[in-house]
Order: sequence, then C-alpha cells, then structure tokens
Amino acid sequence: MHPCISYNKSMKTHTAVIHRTTSQMGMYSITLVVDGSLAFTPGQYLAANMQDDRSAVLPEILYIEKVFGREVTLCPRTLDGWRPGQAVFYRGPLGKGVRIPQFSKWMALISLDDNPARMLSLAAYGSENGLDMVMAGDWVANAKISGDIPASIELAPLSQIQELTSWADFIFFDVPHSQLQSLGKLTQSIPALLRPGFAQVLIHTPMPCIGIAECGICAVKTRRGYILACQDGPVFDLLEISFL
Ligand code: FES
Repeated sequence: MHPCISYNKSMKTHTAVIHRTTSQMGMYSITLVVDGSLAFTPGQYLAANMQDDRSAVLPEILYIEKVFGREVTLCPRTLDGWRPGQAVFYRGPLGKGVRIPQFSKWMALISLDDNPARMLSLAAYGSENGLDMVMAGDWVANAKISGDIPASIELAPLSQIQELTSWADFIFFDVPHSQLQSLGKLTQSIPALLRPGFAQVLIHTPMPCIGIAECGICAVKTRRGYILACQDGPVFDLLEISFL
C-alpha cells in the first residue's frame, strides 16, 4: 500500500454552492462559497462533483485561482452544466503546490499548454508581493486569452525562453503530461534551467482517483522512481523529473 493512502482515505468531503461563473480567457471560472475559510498554495486543487450529477463518477480537478473570504475562485476551464446556485461536493485543497523562493523578485511563468489558466494563482501571488513578472507561451498570440492577463504582467512568446532564463530568478512551468518530452528538450538546450531551486513545474495530468484507489494513472517518472502527481505533485522541482 502506498504510504499516503491512509491520508487520502481520511480526506473529508465538503459542500459548497456555486456563487457565480465568469467568462475568462475564453473559458469559465467558477466561484464557490464555502463554509469557513480555505488556505491554499498556488498549484493546489480541489476535486469536485456536482451534487445532483449522479452520472459523474470521477471528480473534476479544479485548480484554485484565489480565495477571498468564503469565496473560492477556480481557474477557468470548460465545465458544461455548472451553474450558479448549484451545490457541489469537494475535497481539498489537495496535492503539493509551489514552494516559492523567499527572495524571488523576477518571476517567469511559462505555459507549454494552449492556455495559462493554471498559473493565475501564482500570478496573483506575484502581484500581491510586488514581483516583476513575465508570462510566456504560444498562447500569447490569442487575444481572447492574453487580453485577460493583468496589464502589469509582461507577455512573451515561447521563443524568448532563453532570454527569460537569463532575466528571471525563478521560473514556473505549466506543462500537460503529454508535453513533458518538450520540456525535456528545453532543459537540454538551456542547461541553466537546471540550476538548483531555479525552476518548478506543474504537471497537468488526469487524476481520476486523487490517490484513493492508487490507480497510478497520474504517475510521473522522477529521479527517485515513479511518484503520484495527485499526492506528491502536481508541482515538482524541475530537477526532480526524469526525462529519460
Ligand atoms: S493514484 Fe489515481 S489519480 Fe493519482
């Protein structure tokens, strides 16, 4: 049995209500009203089901964008049928989030996906703490997405990653599991990315059981063997990942 399984079996399920949905980056962000307060680290997620959708066996994985009082806003994504007033069950915050370097001043947020939504919580942290930030990816050419990025954050195409590596003191990647090999090629062409403590990666991967059944579908190959993104991630140190 995986050592974390007892922890996950004790995960509590909570109930919340969808307060509003907001069009953002060409998708919808959902704001829940929860009981009490919810503390989270950028990169952590909720596993949620609509209360009245009995056909949905697997939870939706919803990354947290921000928390304001009892309101929890989730990163934009496509979710059919989720409407204000509906009740949802959720567990979380789950997983391990970003370990932000204490003295970071220049942060580059680079998404290899076609949408940087999962990086919004870290961008909000950077804004609150006065960090200079650049967000980069091929998605910057899409005005529907880039138009919703705060004006205080500079945008850059992925082709400028070499320059960003020289400028930043911390780099955060958002990478779908299917694009891990692309990230591996980047680390080969820019060895400076592998400086200790310099870069972390959110690996976006299906997490159907969130650790409860140890399905292994979310496993990520690391230098210490395969580990589960649902529990030991989804944020990893770049140095930890094995691209072999
Ligand atoms: S072990 Fe099943 S989702 Fe991680």
